[in-house]
Parts: sequence; structure tokens; C-alpha cells
Amino acid sequence: SAVSIKEALSGRRPEGSEVTVKGWVRTRRDSKAGLSFVNLSDGSCFDAIQIVVPNTLANYDSDVLRLTAGCAVIATGTLVPSQGKGQNFEMQASAIEVTGFVDDPETYPIQPKPHSMEFLREVAHLRPRTNVFGAITRVRHSLAQAVHRFFHENGFYWVNTPIITTSDAEGAGQMFRVSTLDMANLPRTEKGAVDFDKDFFAKDAFLTVSGQLNVEAYCLALSKVYTFGPTFRAENSNTSRHLAEFWMIEPEIAFADLAADADLAEALLKYVFKAVLEERADDMAFFVDRVEKTAISRLEHFINSPFERIDYTDAVKILQNSGKSFDFPVEWGVDLQTEHERFLVEQHVGRPAVVMNYPEQIKAFYMRMNDDGRTVAAMDILAPGIGEIVGGSQREERLELLDARMAKMGIDAAHYQWYRDLRRYGTVPHAGFGLGFERLVVYTCGLANIRDAIPYPRVPGHAEF
Ligand code: 4AD
Ligand code: MG
Repeated sequence: SAVSIKEALSGRRPEGSEVTVKGWVRTRRDSKAGLSFVNLSDGSCFDAIQIVVPNTLANYDSDVLRLTAGCAVIATGTLVPSQGKGQNFEMQASAIEVTGFVDDPETYPIQPKPHSMEFLREVAHLRPRTNVFGAITRVRHSLAQAVHRFFHENGFYWVNTPIITTSDAEGAGQMFRVSTLDMANLPRTEKGAVDFDKDFFAKDAFLTVSGQLNVEAYCLALSKVYTFGPTFRAENSNTSRHLAEFWMIEPEIAFADLAADADLAEALLKYVFKAVLEERADDMAFFVDRVEKTAISRLEHFINSPFERIDYTDAVKILQNSGKSFDFPVEWGVDLQTEHERFLVEQHVGRPAVVMNYPEQIKAFYMRMNDDGRTVAAMDILAPGIGEIVGGSQREERLELLDARMAKMGIDAAHYQWYRDLRRYGTVPHAGFGLGFERLVVYTCGLANIRDAIPYPRVPGHAEF
């Protein structure tokens, strides 16, 4: 019967079982004794299966001896105990069918040797065939499944918020415009400006930067909800932590304040790390071996550490008294840079930290004004080794204060009528946060660059594949 390589190697099938496996060749080695050893991978698990092929097969010379890395093969045979170390089973082949040879083995990009991550980005369509991208892909899957499981088990509903929108949820002006306009024949107003009222949505439409505003409406009806979908930011930041297209997990809870929000984020992160350590032990062991030697230990440390909670104002004092000279000097009122965030959690606190209550002038219009009149109930969660991984807040549920803040920031309330309605019809304290999914993947796998945490990264100058 046809089985995955994971199943074939699992030990669930008794010795001598006949099975068929299908996959892509990693390596082939021939012995003088008339045997070929073909390593075959199908991505179902970290390991490849060793297939021992005797030269007595009818197509041994015509097919088997032509196998090179990347060829697609269907192999049938019996499972026998493995002589080699590490694996319990190998296959003694009785038939090999090649469904696809590799055109030009010399130039096939994925050779059985280490490749740099930079090189692999140039072959994003073939990099899933490497050990490292197989492992990243499985870990990413397990993280996503664990996120959904966590929310489901805790009574949250997954709400699918729109990707095309007219609202700038962060008020930061970093949106990509969506248009059906025929660029050669742009409709013009009398004054000569492009007339967006004549376009598909009869209004300027954009790709969403966050599902938050939409999910707030569902929160104020279903109490515990979350979004998990793609978001887009036209920030021209060529860094190892920013993507133009990334996935975000955004829960929203009603009758809740910032402290409850921080507790939720802490519980979610610990849950998903625990799940991935259990589910992906072999992939995680590979990351320790080849990518980042603390990949497992730092997740364990994360799971076992109560998060520190620090006020922004205290964080600024800590940084100022640190005696360290930063590229960006710190003073009350500035946003914390990655170097500050990393110093705080890595040198000072030594575990994840929730920084709370930021100055209002550096935070989004929807965040709740604190009683001090100069800070808002915002939080960032900082992780050792990466910096900000979560950004969230308690939302301003009082209409007059929301309006005042929008006016102060020059935001047109007319654009946000529906959002204001939520404060007019049964308003309640509520809070939520955004967890960048690729930042989570980067952190879990110990990757150096966020471009390797998503299958097809979109960054300034790059949208190919
Ligand atoms: O801090 P941010 O901008 O918060 C929001 O978007 C809120 N609406 C979330 C909410 O309260 N519902 O983004 C949240 C997280 C960041 O902490 C970071 O992990 C990730 O999203 N993120 C990015 N990840 C990759 N590339 C980018 N360009 C990112 N920008 C933000
Ligand atoms: Mg943020």
C-alpha cells in the first residue's frame, strides 16, 4: 500500500511489510556489490528513507543509475531493519518507477550540500526541497494549527476580516493602493486629479494593514474573537524583521483591560511553543544542530519564565541608566528601537517582557488614554533575541476621547463612522493585540532573516515567484 515516508519509518508497520513510497531523490550511492542506495524524501517528516535497490531490477541500468538529486520516484519494496545508525527501517526495493528525471543535473540548484539562505531565496520555488525549508514549513504549519487550537479551546471565534479596505487601521499611511484603473486612460476630475470615484470601489481602496478595526466590531458582539490572515505594509524598510506582506494573529476580547490582554498574549505564546516542541521534535533538533544552537533551550526558557511587566517610563529610566551608548539616544517620548528592546530583555530582564503605557504621541489613534493624560494603554511584548513580537492595546471605548484623539492626530472622523458607532451602541472596555506570524516563525526556528519565515517573501524591490 502507498504510505508516507513518515508512516514507513514510524515502526507501526511490521518488518517485512510491503509498501510503496513516493518522493524526490536526495542522494544516490552505488556499491561494488551491485546495490544502489537512494535517499528519498517526501516532506512528511524530517527524515528521508533509504531505499536499497538491487541491480537485478529490469530498469536498473536504464533508470536507477540515472537518478540524481531532485528526480521524482515511486518505490515499492519491503521494510527491513536498517543497518545504518539513526533509522530503524529502510526499504528493500522490488520496483522503482521514475516519474520525472532532472533535465540537467549539473545545473539543478538544490545539490546535496549546504546552500546559503541568500542563495536559496533566489530559488524560492525549489528551496522547499531542502532540509531547512522542509523543517521551517512543517514548524510554520504546526504553529498555525496550535494558534487555532489555542483560541478554539478558549472559546474564541475566528473571524475573517477583509483584505481590501478603505480604512487605515493604524493611521500610519503605509497602505498599498488597490486599483482597477486603466493606467493609460486615467479618469480625471475637472481639476486634472485622478478621479478615484470612477474606479471599481468608487473610493480609494487599499490592502489592509491590520484586521483590528473590523474584528473589534465582532468582539463587541461575540466577546472573544480573533483574525489570522495576511496584512500588508508599504514601509520601505529593508530589514531582517520586516516584510511588505505578512500574516498577523489579532485576538480581541470584550470587558477586558490591558492586564488581561497581556495575560492572554503570554498564555498564547507559551501554548504554541509547547505545542511545537512536542510536535516537531526532529525539526527543532535540526535547527539546534544547523541554524541556532539555542533554538530549543530558548523556547523552554520562554515557556518557563513568567513575563516581566514594565512601564514604558521605567524602561526609559533603565535604558538611560544603563551606561550603554545607543545609536538612537533614549528619552521619554521616543519610540523604542530594536537595540533598546533587545538590551532591555537580553541584558536587563533576562526573559520576555511586556512594556506598557507608552506616550500617546507615538501610538495609534485607537489606543485608550490613561488617567495621567499623557500615556495610552498600549503594550509591546519583547522577546530576547528578536525584540518586538507583539503589539497591542486597550482600545479607547469612550467616544469623546476617541474623537479628540483623532482630531489631534489629523484623522478624518468621517472615514471612521462605523468604527465610532461601536462607541455609540453598547460600548465596553475591550483590548487586543497583534502577533506577527513570521516573527513567531523566525523566533521558533532561530532564523536570522524574516525572508526565510514565509514561502515567498515580499520586500521592497521583490515580488517575484
Ligand atoms: O504593532 P503593530 O503595528 O500592531 C497592529 O497592527 C495592531 N493593529 C495589532 C492589534 O492590536 N490588533 O503590529 C503587530 C505585530 C508586530 O508586533 C510585529 O510582530 C508584526 O505585527 N509586524 C510585522 N511583521 C513583519 N513585517 C512587518 N512589516 C510587520 N509590521 C508589524
Ligand atoms: Mg508595533
